[in-house]
Amino acid sequence: MSNIPCSSEVADAVASVIAHRRSIRAFNNKPIPKEILDRLVRAGIDAPSGSNWQNQRFLVISDAEEIMRIGKQRFVWPYKGANIGKVKEAHPGGILGHSAALIIVFADSRDNDRRGNGEYHIWQVLEIQNCAASIQNILLLATALGLGSCWISASDSMNFTRMFSGGSWRKMLSEYDLPLHYKLQGIVMLGYPKSKTAQGFAKGESMHGATVWQSTKRKPIDNYLVGKKSAASALAAVTFTDALLVKVYSTVILLLHRALSHIDKLIHRIEIDKYFRKL
Ligand SMILES: Cc1cc2nc3c(=O)[nH]c(=O)nc-3n(C[C@H](O)[C@H](O)[C@H](O)COP(=O)(O)O)c2cc1C
Repeated sequence: MSNIPCSSEVADAVASVIAHRRSIRAFNNKPIPKEILDRLVRAGIDAPSGSNWQNQRFLVISDAEEIMRIGKQRFVWPYKGANIGKVKEAHPGGILGHSAALIIVFADSRDNDRRGNGEYHIWQVLEIQNCAASIQNILLLATALGLGSCWISASDSMNFTRMFSGGSWRKMLSEYDLPLHYKLQGIVMLGYPKSKTAQGFAKGESMHGATVWQSTKRKPIDNYLVGKKSAASALAAVTFTDALLVKVYSTVILLLHRALSHIDKLIHRIEIDKYFRKL
């Protein structure tokens, strides 16, 4: 653990790292030393977790062939208008396959103690949020270390879609010790950047082209801050009929939640009685 004391210089340094973090998707071939990968995982572990579950789990992969295998299966090419056939010829591993290391982040859903209450469907969002906090910590430390990094979407619900070339992430990672209660939450790809800014940070893109080209520059602060409702606000303009419809639909959702809660308890009973207690 670093022991640098709290000061305005440290605050400036942290703010600078936050402001200069960008998604980096092109790397040179230099490998990342194991000590650095360990530090990045430590940053992930140091993230907060809802109810202090500490249920974030990390799979670190730095073998080039293995990264290429995963890249081919989880093919990502975020640039608009690209001819995917041609891109696959030139970059068979998409963007993932050419990184120096991957940190694949999972939530251990067994540590979610709301299961027994039948409230798992409500609290499982904390699993996502805990892992998101870890991923952001990793990205920030990677930025401070002069590495390039990018958060890559991956989740259980992406199974059997084009995201995993028709397969599932479990099949893709079947050689690793990943129990059934581990849920995939995201992938961090890492590498030394091809280009740097004047300050030495990895240089990211100013435009993002997943679906349409969009600037990655942040808008002025007013765009993000929420203020008090005004007469002109969208909420003030809601009609009686729309408000009634929202109420009816909300009641339907509430009833569905109750049904889910019941099913949740049944699943919990099977898991606890038949499997988890035996471990
Ligand atoms: C939850 C999440 C998922 C993301 N998934 C992907 C992804 O699958 N592929 C990718 O190239 N970038 C992905 N990104 C990176 C975003 O595209 C990027 O953060 C955004 O364009 C803003 O650019 P910046 O990170 O350089 O500021 C993801 C970011 C987040 C937070």
